[in-house]
Amino acid sequence: MSYKPQLVPSEWLWVTLLLLKLKLSFRTPDIDCLARGVKLTQHIAAAQFFTPSRAAFLIGRYPIRSGMASSNRYRALQWNAGSGGPPENETTFSKLLQQQGYTTGLVGKWYQGVNCKSFNDHCHHPLNHGFDYCYGMPFTLLNNSQENKPPELGVALQAKLWLYSQIIIIAVIALTTGKLTGLISICWKIIACFTLVDCLFFISWYSSYGLVQHWNCILMRNHDVTEQLMRLERTTSLMLKEAVSFIKRNRYGPFLLFVSFLHVHTPLFTTAKFIGKNHHGLYGDNVEEMDLMVGKILDSLDKEGLENHTFTYFASDHGGHLEAQAGSAQLGGWNGIYKGRKGMGGWEGGIHVPGVFRWPGVLPAGTVIDEPTSLMDIYPTVVHLAGGILPQDRVIDGRNLMLLLQGRTQSSEHEFLFHCCGSYLHAVRWHQKDGKSVWKAHYVTPVFHPLGAGTYYGKGICLCFGEGMTHHEPPLLFDLSQDPSEAKPLSADTEPLFDTVVERIGRAIEEHCRTLTPVPEQLSLYNVIWKLWLQPCCGTFPFCWCDKEGDSTQNL
Ligand SMILES: *[C@@H]1O[C@H](CO)[C@@H](O)[C@H](O)[C@H]1NC(C)=O
Ligand SMILES: *[C@@H]1O[C@H](CO)[C@@H](O)[C@H](O)[C@H]1NC(C)=O
Ligand SMILES: *[C@@H]1O[C@H](CO)[C@@H](O)[C@H](O)[C@H]1NC(C)=O
Repeated sequence: MSYKPQLVPSEWLWVTLLLLKLKLSFRTPDIDCLARGVKLTQHIAAAQFFTPSRAAFLIGRYPIRSGMASSNRYRALQWNAGSGGPPENETTFSKLLQQQGYTTGLVGKWYQGVNCKSFNDHCHHPLNHGFDYCYGMPFTLLNNSQENKPPELGVALQAKLWLYSQIIIIAVIALTTGKLTGLISICWKIIACFTLVDCLFFISWYSSYGLVQHWNCILMRNHDVTEQLMRLERTTSLMLKEAVSFIKRNRYGPFLLFVSFLHVHTPLFTTAKFIGKNHHGLYGDNVEEMDLMVGKILDSLDKEGLENHTFTYFASDHGGHLEAQAGSAQLGGWNGIYKGRKGMGGWEGGIHVPGVFRWPGVLPAGTVIDEPTSLMDIYPTVVHLAGGILPQDRVIDGRNLMLLLQGRTQSSEHEFLFHCCGSYLHAVRWHQKDGKSVWKAHYVTPVFHPLGAGTYYGKGICLCFGEGMTHHEPPLLFDLSQDPSEAKPLSADTEPLFDTVVERIGRAIEEHCRTLTPVPEQLSLYNVIWKLWLQPCCGTFPFCWCDKEGDSTQNL
């Protein structure tokens, strides 16, 4: 395995590293300011992809428990018109807060699905998962959302649909010729059926080819589509306006506002005045624009005098997507000293994310906590703060963080954290109680291929299973407290505790597996494909076109 630790510690949110390299790196004064509250240095996402990671965050459970972990190659939703998403019987923290009298709002991206059975059942919609108000993208920004960018979605699917439609056409031509010349006895009905099937393939190919942008890049306010296609140049200011006005509208009552940035994902659409502002190219520009948005949102909170009454949290769903590059420009960030990247099962680079909190007067400022924590911990934490009760009929994997954040306890309640890739277990972290060590055992790792300047597994995002994987028996073991870059695997010769640790982790896996029950898979092939009858549409299908925002752009 060849691996070079990245030398540029500029993963967009790595505030510690950022401060060290302030002049060369991004300027993120607003996020730095947030981080003067409490900073978690071992904050771990439950998955390395947006859809499952976000589902676990909202539901407080590992994605596999809700069916949001995939066993196929699709680990995220591919279309607004797919049928996967968090099941209705899962309870998000927003739903529990709503029951406690909080006004709940979501601004930004959702990417957790829209419909199940018809184009407006909105079974997976935020308003059906505990939000009183939502504004933003039901999907996510992708290269496809911007003209003149190489598409990142639908390419493989298109190729298949095209191939099938061509094969069927050839069959239809052969059958027709055979019938006309009397060589084949077949009834016209069968030929007509073939022709119809071919038309369907052709239409699907055409829709997915020309219309990815049209079907996916839309904005919604509550149940209405407000922009189809969305106009990227004004999206940032619309998001900001929505977040600020939500705070203003709800300043007299308790509220939960979840701002889910469309930044800093490709295509890194950035407002003109931020372009070319720093040494890290378009990515850095995009980070600085996001930082400014964070600042404006916090300012509006402060302006309303709410800062001492508001628990504020900032994090990322997964690590940087190092494969996103254009020439020598890095479009997906860096992961600092951490190995691996977005999409990779167990390596830190895919799951080790920032976690910062601010709550003046309640959380001690300037605290750094090195204990392992999870994005899933926000669930019981906010439910506790709102005086709610956690669901008792299911396993909640998150742990209330308040005692840790307030410095009333020194240790995290997480003894084991399981790092799955899709529905496959790749690695396990063990934070030994009363010990300093944080052990991590990798059972499956992706194969790295040295290519070009960096080290990659293939070109796109690596899979969780199959040929590109190495299985380790015994597992690769690291002590993260000594070796956070996972550079030197331990062995029975170098680590006296090796066998004991591996054996203990093995038992933890068995115990964990016993708590898992089979549930319907939300990202099955059937659930991710585009379905005509599920497509959100502004207008009369297939003429979906609208722009209800007028020109209400406000300058950043
Ligand atoms: C997105 O577009 C950029 C060019 O702007 C390209 O370099 C990159 O590879 C594309 N991303 C994907 C995932 O195709
Ligand atoms: C918030 O609390 C801090 C310290 O606890 C205090 O200095 C500040 O004035 C308070 N702000 C408001 C708006 O009450
Ligand atoms: C939700 O429903 C599915 C299937 O109907 C079931 O397998 C699962 O256990 C349920 N989840 C919860 C949290 O009740």
